[in-house]
Formats: sequence, structure tokens, C-alpha cells
Amino acid sequence: MPSPITIPALFRMKRQSEKIAAVTAYDFPTAKIAEDAGIHLVLVGDSLGMVVQGNTNTLPVTMEEMLYHTRIVARTCRQAFVVGDMPFMSYQTDIPAAIANAGRFIKEAGAAAVKLEGGASVSRVIEALTEAGISVQAHIGLTPQSVHQMGGYKVQRDEERLLNDALEVEAAGAFSVVLEGIPADIAATITQRLQIPTIGIGAGPHCDGQILVIHDLLGLTDRHVPKFVKPYAQLMAIGKDAVAKYVQEVGSGEFPGPEHCY
Ligand code: KIV
Repeated sequence: MPSPITIPALFRMKRQSEKIAAVTAYDFPTAKIAEDAGIHLVLVGDSLGMVVQGNTNTLPVTMEEMLYHTRIVARTCRQAFVVGDMPFMSYQTDIPAAIANAGRFIKEAGAAAVKLEGGASVSRVIEALTEAGISVQAHIGLTPQSVHQMGGYKVQRDEERLLNDALEVEAAGAFSVVLEGIPADIAATITQRLQIPTIGIGAGPHCDGQILVIHDLLGLTDRHVPKFVKPYAQLMAIGKDAVAKYVQEVGSGEFPGPEHCY
């Protein structure tokens, strides 16, 4: 069995131009699919607020919900590096609260690191968490927790600001940075300038790795998916067809058949 992915392994992959494949996962089946398929990094994303809970954004997700899902994923993954996503208002109020909340992801839920959204504006938080011994993945560009400030889920194009954010989070001690919703050429520049691995989502092919929300990748959704998503399966349609067939067979008496009886 290959050895578990660690932060030094992710750095080595960047140095050797070996792409990092990441997905989100939220429960035993999604974590098991990712792990068994050989994924390098699993993010227990607060996107669960949308794809698992059915909300229109990630803002209502709580610490307790994140810890519940992270615990299940961390228990399931043996090789993949598991990152817990800090929900809205769990790190923005003050540094002691951010340390206490981030610590719970590691100590109570078994994550190897936490992720938080923001660039220069959260660099002091990243520094404090890193000093406390907690590894942090940053997340810049289109940051869904700022949906109202951004006026929607919009591609971010301010190159100077994006590069500054990336350099600041690296200097603050982040071990990696997610680049979301930014033009491919800006992501390429950032990736070249940083020592830490960049993980892109809607940020083009030049990042050190890619991440997708697993429900989008599997087609386990009937919401509109953004342009950057490539659905590798259509599980929602398969699931609906299967359940419709079951409804029909229960109605007709075809199910259960003799082979399903004791
Ligand atoms: O919450 C999430 O799933 C994320 C990824 C899209 C990077 O932040």
C-alpha cells in the first residue's frame, strides 16, 4: 500500500511537476470513492452547505456540522491528505477563536490541516494558526463565503491583488493555496512565483493541482454547474432512473421477487 500523502509529499510533487489531484468529500461513500480512486488530497469543503444540505450558499454551515463530516472523512481516508474547511465566522472574529476552532478540526475530527478563505486580510490568522502548529491551506480569488461582497460568484481578475494575496498567504505560513475562479494566465503566474503548491478550481491548467466538488465531478446534482466543471459521470440521472424503476416494480409487485425472500 502506498504511503500516506503528507505536506512534504505535496511539496515534492510541485518540485517534480507531478500534478496533485484533489476532490471534496463529506461522508463515507464520497470519501471511499475518492480514496480508493487514488486521490491525493480530500477537502471536507463547506460546499457541503450547498451539495449536501441544499442551501443556496455556504454561509449557514456551522462548526459542529463541519466537524461531524470531517470526522467521517478523516476516519475513512488512509492515504489521502484530509483538510477541514473552516466555516463562515469560525476564524473571522478574533485570533483566539480561530485557533480554538481550527484546533478542533485537528484534535476532535482528525483532519491533517484546515483551509480558510481570504488573502492578505487573513494573513495574521494564518500566521497565528501556523505558530500554534496547525497547517493551513489558503483560498484566494473567488471566495464563496464573500458571495454578497463580491455581488455573486464572479471570476476575479485583479492580477495585482491576486498576486499580493498569494504572496502574503505564503509568507504567513500557508502550506498550499486554492486558486478559485481566476483567469488561467494569472493562475500560471502565481503558480510560478510561489514555492507552495497551488490547487486550482476554475483557474486553468497551469496550477500544481486541481480540485472539484465531488458531486459536480460525479454528476450527482441537478443544479447548474459552472463552466470549469467536467462531469465524469451522471449519477443523479442514474439514481433517478433506478428509483423510478423501483417505484414501478413495487407498484406492479415485481419486487420483491422470490430471490429476495427468506
Ligand atoms: O468548499 C469547498 O468545496 C471549496 C472548494 C471548492 C475549493 O472551498
